[in-house]
Amino acid sequence: MNKKELMYKENTPGYIIELNDVSKIAKTKSTETVLLQNISLQIKEGSFTVIIGRSGSGKTTLMNLMSGMSKCTGGELVVSNENLSYYSNSDLINFRRDNVSFIFQDYGLLSTLNVIDNIRTGIYLAKNKLLRSKVKEIITFLDLQNHVKKMPNELSGGQQQRVSIARALVKNPKIIFGDEPTGSLDSYTSFNVLQILKSINESGTTIVLVTHDPRVARIADHIIEINDGKILSNKSNKPLENFKKLFI
Ligand SMILES: Nc1ncnc2c1ncn2[C@@H]1O[C@H](COP(=O)(O)OP(=O)(O)OP(=O)(O)O)[C@@H](O)[C@H]1O
Ligand SMILES: [Mg+2]
Repeated sequence: MNKKELMYKENTPGYIIELNDVSKIAKTKSTETVLLQNISLQIKEGSFTVIIGRSGSGKTTLMNLMSGMSKCTGGELVVSNENLSYYSNSDLINFRRDNVSFIFQDYGLLSTLNVIDNIRTGIYLAKNKLLRSKVKEIITFLDLQNHVKKMPNELSGGQQQRVSIARALVKNPKIIFGDEPTGSLDSYTSFNVLQILKSINESGTTIVLVTHDPRVARIADHIIEINDGKILSNKSNKPLENFKKLFI
């Protein structure tokens, strides 16, 4: 098979992320560190998955592989019918542009751009350009309509996180990845952000979050726990309907 043929692989029907015996080893001239070892798992399309585990257990490393931010060193990784195991770094840039959005703990906004321009950076990257009216709808949905001209340093943490969610949404991605998206927020604001993510998920977007917070895991329909670069448990969860009481 040529490279193009190897790069395409259909996911099992109903699944969007599949790892088969995936490993990640960090190499320097003299050392090899095993960051992830023999990871096999499947994530359902349209699910809300949370990855938990102690600090240093490999959560971010695992999410970086699933989102095409870095390459695995062994095994097979198929995301949205693309076999990332065969992708070069530039193939991965295209994969990320076309399929995924990120929400980070520190928001990742560009400090020299105002709110609306930060949000628009998500549109430049979008494969299917959103209509102007749809962008307006997202801004209103996130209650940012009175802040569009402000600079990031004029916003609270929760407002900045909502801008980063808006930027993720205007890209209209198949999957949203979040690494501790509520890590810098107080309980009340965390609840608001999670409620927004939950309703995005209900409209069909697959969500994968890394978190330290056991309360966040309660709202997921799937929980993966990792320890020392290995899967400790991988199970479905009945999401708590009224999770407000956990936060407020
Ligand atoms: N490029 C690298 N080279 C060597 N070791 C690394 C590299 N990247 C990460 N590590 C190590 O791999 C382990 C897992 O890191 P990772 O960032 O995935 O942990 P984490 O579960 O996200 O932790 P936290 O909850 O603190 O964010 C850590 O021990 C880390 O020091
Ligand atoms: Mg991490």
